[in-house]
Amino acid sequence: MSNGIVKATGRSDWKVAVVLGSGSSGLAREIVGGDPISFADVEGLHASTVAGHEGALYAGDVSGVPTLMFAGRVHLYEGHGPRAVTSAVETAIGAGCDTIVLNNAAGGINLDLDVGAPALISDHLNLTGQNPLMGEHDERGPRFPDLTNLYDAELRNLARSIDPDLKEGVYAGLTGPTYETPAEVTMLKALGADLVGMSTVLEAIMARYLGAKVLGISVVTNYAAGTTPEPLSHEEVTAASRQAAARLMSLLRGVLERLY
Ligand code: HPA
Repeated sequence: MSNGIVKATGRSDWKVAVVLGSGSSGLAREIVGGDPISFADVEGLHASTVAGHEGALYAGDVSGVPTLMFAGRVHLYEGHGPRAVTSAVETAIGAGCDTIVLNNAAGGINLDLDVGAPALISDHLNLTGQNPLMGEHDERGPRFPDLTNLYDAELRNLARSIDPDLKEGVYAGLTGPTYETPAEVTMLKALGADLVGMSTVLEAIMARYLGAKVLGISVVTNYAAGTTPEPLSHEEVTAASRQAAARLMSLLRGVLERLY
């Protein structure tokens, strides 16, 4: 079967895919290096239009582990459908990956979380109103997938063995592109959310459907709307993810070193 990543990289032995979020995409060059492959040049991938999202794939061995690192992703709020949003994960799994690391920038609803620090995702609330598995069942996975332990507990333990101070929480995924109103943040808190963002949930669902394990890592870039008097800005989000870069980089490197 033809796979855009296999064609673009000349390899079909990929093991781990890492999708990097807003402001963190620069890590792909540092961790994987080599020549970037533009999403536009990979059959099946869609180009992202967001500042802070490079839209390039870095592919290579990291500590001996064949790794695909996506510097950027596409979002529902760009006008893409759910299947475009999950195309990177889907294509990476088709190229051999059995572990998917999903990183994002998120607002902190739970004030115990630290701004400028990574936090593990323990579970999610899919509040996008979308699901990448809607439509005719293609039989690559179950019709009604179970989402228990979606954000794999063993992988979270592995992450904590590298960075014991990591906090974790439930991630609420919304479509954006607006940040939430303070009233919505109050609602999300009541629903059990600790983190809020505009990505990840659909990709995690696709990874589970196709049988891959998921590790979710948010970078808390701000406290969510209404929790502080400051207005939110995309610049603040990208600046806080840069602040978290060194810690995120050691975490990702450590995970890749110890995964297999
Ligand atoms: N809300 C939604 N998405 C986000 C936020 C936020 O506060 N911060 C970074 N991404």
